[in-house]
Formats: sequence, structure tokens, C-alpha cells
Amino acid sequence: MTTANEQQWAAVDAYVEQTVVRQDEVFDRVRRRADEAGMPRIEVSAAHGKMLALLAEISGARRVLEVGTLAGFSTIWMARAVGDQGQVITCEYEPRHAEVAQANLEDAGVADRVQIRLGAAEDSLRQLIAEEPEPFDLVFLDADKAGNARYLQLAVQMARPGTVIVGDNVVRGGQILDADSQDPDIRGIWDFLEAQGSSPVLEATAVQTVGAKGWDGFSLAVVRSA
Ligand code: SAH
Ligand code: DHB
Ligand code: MG
Repeated sequence: MTTANEQQWAAVDAYVEQTVVRQDEVFDRVRRRADEAGMPRIEVSAAHGKMLALLAEISGARRVLEVGTLAGFSTIWMARAVGDQGQVITCEYEPRHAEVAQANLEDAGVADRVQIRLGAAEDSLRQLIAEEPEPFDLVFLDADKAGNARYLQLAVQMARPGTVIVGDNVVRGGQILDADSQDPDIRGIWDFLEAQGSSPVLEATAVQTVGAKGWDGFSLAVVRSA
């Protein structure tokens, strides 16, 4: 057995995508719109998108909060999973990204159950808290990693016992082990993971992943008491 390289990780992702995920053709058009708009290719893989959808389904989620919309890949996976009575609120600060995402949500037939909040995530989350929303069942944090600990703290204020919180990109090719890192995203990931490990209200883990997007990982937490 040789050590798997990045090409093999991507090939296995492609195999998994074709064999078990069975992503439909809406995502081809979503991809095309994102490419035409020159957006970065940093969306969740199909395998991860499907995992988010399954987490939503397993937890019986009806209300989802997302931070970081991009072109709406992860949004569409979760919006489908919450069903037509569900709602997804997703925060994005790039107007162009929000515009492309809106077109993609319409194409996917889920625009009626998704609200894009345009603005800096922290402002949007504070605004949301002020609106005293029904608690969210699932939270996906995937915008700037520097702000993640803050977003976590704000999201917990809109959670209930049992709310599931997923954080993306918590490994970054192992960069989180560079103890001297001055990268605000890496430092943000430390704060984010340490906050989860020391929180009396969260029970959490982090899982490393390899695939088409290289070596990374996600955190998974459940709110014990809010
Ligand atoms: N969840 C998406 C990918 C999100 S990429 C998917 O998997 O399909 C991260 C997104 O967060 C980008 O669109 C970026 O513009 C947005 N973003 C970054 N920092 C932000 C901030 N402070 N507030 C709101 N959005 C932010
Ligand atoms: C980056 C951001 C992401 O959300 C992601 O999944 C991959 C990469 C980035 O900013 O590089
Ligand atoms: Mg991400």
C-alpha cells in the first residue's frame, strides 16, 4: 500500500460522488454560474454537501443558519434537506456572491425557503439575535475563519439544547499545527476549536478529511444547554 497522494484523494472523491452521493445536474449549472462570475472554487465537495444534508435530516432540522454563502452549494444541500416547510438563513458580505447564489437557489427550486442576509457576518448575526428568532436546529460556519469563534458565540445565542454546529476548514493542510502562525485564519481556528473544547454548553469533536480539496477537516458540535 503506497501513501495516498492528492490525486488519489480527488479520484476517490470522484468515485464516491458517482457511486453514493449521486449529486444531480442542478449542481452543474450552479458550478457554471459560479465559474462565469469568477468566484473562487472553495465550496464544499459533493460528499461534504451530502453530509450536511444528512446531518440536517438526522437531526430533524427545520431551521438552518449558515455563515458564508458563496454561490450557494452548501446552502442548496441544506435547503433541500429541511423540506418545503423549512428555512435557511445564510450570511454573505460579497454582493456579487449573493447575487449568483440567489440565481442558483431559484434554479434549485429552494429560493422560497432561503433568505440571504447581505453584510458582514457579525453584523448580520447581531441583527438576527435582535429579531429573537426561533432557535436554529443546525448551524454551518464557513465564512472567514478569523471570525469563527465570534460567530460561534453568537450562533449559540440562537440555539437550543440539541442544536448541531458544524465548522468548516479547521485543519487547513495541517497549518493549525504551526504554533508560530500569524495567519489570522489559523489563529481564528485555534480560538474556534479551543472555544468548543472548553465550552460548558457544547460537546464537540473535529474530524480530519482528505479529498478533492486536499487535507482539511470539520468540527462537529452539539449544544448541551443553551
Ligand atoms: N458555504 C459555501 C462556501 C463559503 S466560502 C459552500 O460550501 O458552498 C466563504 C464565503 O464567505 C465567501 O463567499 C465570502 O465572501 C464569505 N465571507 C467571508 N468573510 C465574510 C464575512 N466576514 N461576512 C460575511 N461573509 C463573509
Ligand atoms: C477557503 C475557504 C473555504 O471555506 C474552504 O472550504 C476552502 C478554502 C479559503 O478561503 O481558502
Ligand atoms: Mg469551507
